[in-house]
Amino acid sequence: MSVIEVSEVSKAFLMAEGRKVPVLQNVNFKVEQGESVAICGRSGSGKSTLLHILSGLILPDDGKVLVLDKELSLYKENERCDFRNRFLGFVFQAFYLEQSMTALENVALPLIVQGIGKKERNERAMDVLRKVGLEDRSGHKPSELSGGEQQRVCIARAIVTEPRILFADEPTGNLDEKNSNMIMELLLGFTQKNTSVILVTHEQEDAKRCSRILHLVDGRISDL
Ligand SMILES: Nc1ncnc2c1ncn2[C@@H]1O[C@H](COP(=O)(O)OP(=O)(O)O)[C@@H](O)[C@H]1O
Ligand SMILES: [Mg+2]
Repeated sequence: MSVIEVSEVSKAFLMAEGRKVPVLQNVNFKVEQGESVAICGRSGSGKSTLLHILSGLILPDDGKVLVLDKELSLYKENERCDFRNRFLGFVFQAFYLEQSMTALENVALPLIVQGIGKKERNERAMDVLRKVGLEDRSGHKPSELSGGEQQRVCIARAIVTEPRILFADEPTGNLDEKNSNMIMELLLGFTQKNTSVILVTHEQEDAKRCSRILHLVDGRISDL
């Protein structure tokens, strides 16, 4: 079963001087349930742009994106936002944790949006912190955690809503080898629960651990 279907997607950005710069051109691919897919390409090749399109953060100029059988461009921005919160999880290179909040509070944030009460929020947040091996760090603020630990908090925050698709944009970019390995293992482990994992990376080592690698070159995808 496909969870993502991309057909003939193109995207260009309008520069200040009015020039249009094409980033994606007639991109086609599918992602199956429980599959791990690496999206590789040089810096500036459009990896993050593609990921933003797949998650409905931005819309393509042309083509169609089906995510969990929904055509994202047919929905309003707040509906896409709600859809993201319910079905998609995100992990970024730069973590984006709330500095004034504890690990537990950060992880519980997506559940506040869903209107879930405090007791259940905290239980579920604690449960996923345990899954990433950070139960004894739940009261720590991000500044009191190592880079690897902060990224594990981000993973916990991404999975607390039990997403169908997990997106990770260069999640090991700020980590040493040991922590990178641990983060990759955690992320790819979710495929066993039928979560699809889409990993943007320029680390060959990380890409090779995925079931499939898509290369972005000159705005086009080649499936090698
Ligand atoms: N909002 C934007 N406005 C204009 N240009 C953008 C915007 N976002 C990305 N770009 C340009 O699109 C290209 C691809 O960017 P990006 O998707 O971030 O690449 P990658 O993630 O592969 O490094 C780059 O040349 C970048 O400068
Ligand atoms: Mg990027």
